[in-house]
Amino acid sequence: MMQQTITGQVCYRRQLCKFLFFIDVQPTNDTYPKFQLFFRTDDGSLDIVDFQDSFRACRPGSIITFKVHPPNDPNEQNGKSHKVWQCNQPVDVVVPYTSREPFIPGRATRGVSASTEPTAKTEDYLSPCKYWVNKNKCEQGEKCLFQHPAGDAFEVARRKWLKQKEKDRKLVTYDPEDPHISKQPHGLRAIIFAYWIRQTFAEQLKEGGGVLDVAGGKGEISLVLSREFGIPTTVVEPKTRKLPNYWLRRLRRLMLRFEVGEEPDWKDKDVQLALQTWPCNTTPTYLHTMLNDEFLVQNAPLLENISLFVGLHSDQATIPIVDTALKAGKAFAVVPCCVFSHENRSRRLRNGELVTTTEQQIQYICEKDTLGYGGQIKTAYLDFEGKNRVVYWIPNTTW
Ligand SMILES: C[S@@+](CC[C@H](N)C(=O)[O-])C[C@H]1O[C@@H](n2cnc3c(N)ncnc32)[C@H](O)[C@@H]1O
Repeated sequence: MMQQTITGQVCYRRQLCKFLFFIDVQPTNDTYPKFQLFFRTDDGSLDIVDFQDSFRACRPGSIITFKVHPPNDPNEQNGKSHKVWQCNQPVDVVVPYTSREPFIPGRATRGVSASTEPTAKTEDYLSPCKYWVNKNKCEQGEKCLFQHPAGDAFEVARRKWLKQKEKDRKLVTYDPEDPHISKQPHGLRAIIFAYWIRQTFAEQLKEGGGVLDVAGGKGEISLVLSREFGIPTTVVEPKTRKLPNYWLRRLRRLMLRFEVGEEPDWKDKDVQLALQTWPCNTTPTYLHTMLNDEFLVQNAPLLENISLFVGLHSDQATIPIVDTALKAGKAFAVVPCCVFSHENRSRRLRNGELVTTTEQQIQYICEKDTLGYGGQIKTAYLDFEGKNRVVYWIPNTTW
């Protein structure tokens, strides 16, 4: 296959679906005009690891070098004035774009693909600018090719954009196995998880042992468990977050609404009182550190008294939570979200596949079941928008 090596700056990057992304490239030596470069896995030209590495390397603004060849599907070139190339090898970054300011991308070369991108040039010109409807500002200003509506037209465009975003999110997270159809908002996730924890692990928690809320962010799960149910909790979270009073009030408000299943009458005296008070005085302890081997050694006495490890969208901490709990013979419940497969190339499913999606990560955790820990690793769906599948384990024996 005829290949050429080119060096150029990434002007724009867009992932069209799980298996395909493209970039617009401005070659550095000006021999070529700007062109478009595809990366895909569905035709076997790249494997998932090289695809993901390339995606990260192609940060807009970075200068990269890569080998190109004509697209495997010649139709990709049809009807396009710019040149279209395909890449079947990982790219090398020559000069990374490191500025804290986002690179201001040039407009994408038009008409990405008849088969993958339905947007036609005329439609593009008619549609509102997504930066404008999102933030009410656009770096391109007058030069922007999209509409910048004002007044009522702005409100209409924004509502339409938000609705579309919500629709896209639902499509991306759609899971036919999920029994929850009309789900609770994402903002209630910690409250819903906390109520589920209390119900599911009632037996483990009644001994008085605490909950270790790893990667807990501001500690919302712990606050609900402690102040609503009197369960001792410890938040393990490296980042220090501000916990202003208005945040606590908002949480309490969300809880009251969640408990009654509808908007309470906020002017009612009892509701007012409930807003000011919490049922229990127990408060979470915060440890601003990572869950890692050092933490396990330094906090051995604390871990002895823990009945349950939990992690909600706990990023890089998810698998360490599971492994630590299994090793200690203590219950766990994690709701996986991001996978960080590039940092964890050794995580493979039993069939040899690399763990790159949330679903695969869930399977990966469930496959630890057969390692002889006793008790079955199970999953359940929680009733909130977004990643909502919890993986949990209750050991056979109590301690
Ligand atoms: C997506 S946030 C989730 C926060 C919170 N659980 C929530 O749902 O709002 C992920 C958090 O994981 C924390 N984190 C990442 N790795 C960690 C580790 N090894 N130990 C503890 N926390 C970690 C990060 O600091 C970040 O706050």
